[in-house]
Amino acid sequence: MRSPIPDYLTDVLRAVEPDQSGATADYIPELAQADPDRLAAALCTVDGHVYSAGDATAAFSIQSISKPFAYALALADRGFDAVLEKVSVEPSGNAFNEMSVEPETGRPLNPMINAGAIATHSLTGPLGATPDERVARVIDGLSAFAGRRLEIDESVYHSEIRHAYRNRSLANMLRAYDIIADDPLVAVAGYTRQCSVLVTTEDLAVMAGTLANRGVNPLTGRPVVSAEVVRQTLSVMATCGMYDGAGDWMTRVGVPAKSGVAGGLIGALPGQVGIATFSPRLDRHGNSVRGADLFTRFTADMGMHLM
Ligand code: DON
Repeated sequence: MRSPIPDYLTDVLRAVEPDQSGATADYIPELAQADPDRLAAALCTVDGHVYSAGDATAAFSIQSISKPFAYALALADRGFDAVLEKVSVEPSGNAFNEMSVEPETGRPLNPMINAGAIATHSLTGPLGATPDERVARVIDGLSAFAGRRLEIDESVYHSEIRHAYRNRSLANMLRAYDIIADDPLVAVAGYTRQCSVLVTTEDLAVMAGTLANRGVNPLTGRPVVSAEVVRQTLSVMATCGMYDGAGDWMTRVGVPAKSGVAGGLIGALPGQVGIATFSPRLDRHGNSVRGADLFTRFTADMGMHLM
């Protein structure tokens, strides 16, 4: 029997399609030029079924959705203590590009905001890894989560790095507090490359599905990170993944999630399913407007709210 899920996904996409509110990110010129009308959704179950509708094979940059995966890789590579020493796990209640750090130590409040993600990127790979080796580790790791070889979009990278004054200032502060050991410009370059990795909505569903499947990729069957690392990562997504919109998200949608400024959005329901959507127009927190609507409908229609 044919699964009813693709028809359901198509119906829900149709329902949210007319909403043109929000705007594409304008501080990264490549993203400002993206087609704002693209719309997609995909699900990946823990037993490896992928269902999708809309522009689900269109590629876009992963942006902040890379953060939970890089965090998982850093935990796997360096251990919990070493990572927690440099990056805390408290919601900031502020925008993603704020200097949200502990006043005494300079430790970023969590790995989902830019300050925390720049520090987290520098904790990937073995101790002593070079900046290039860390970028390679992150691309390999993101690829393992996706179950296929991912690549960086160099034009997105150059478009962002040219204007990355805000992230450079965050990295300078992190360097001053000895949270990162790298030259701040090198740290921002590595982090920005991480954000420039190209994915499709289907890739994101599989990546989220790997988190839902406690670290084992549901398509390849390969373990990517441990169940303990996944628990830590999903916990931080639940409290910090949607930035200063995290409380509204958790009460309304009820699954750990992460957004990106290119318009991607993922959610993971442990033991069940990874969900991904794509729609480039963003709300004031930098989260996809129609993506949030899709997630609200999914969790209501399918009874996915965790509480
Ligand atoms: O560092 C930045 O500002 C971007 N590369 C990523 C920000 C982002 O995706 C925020 N999320 N919604």
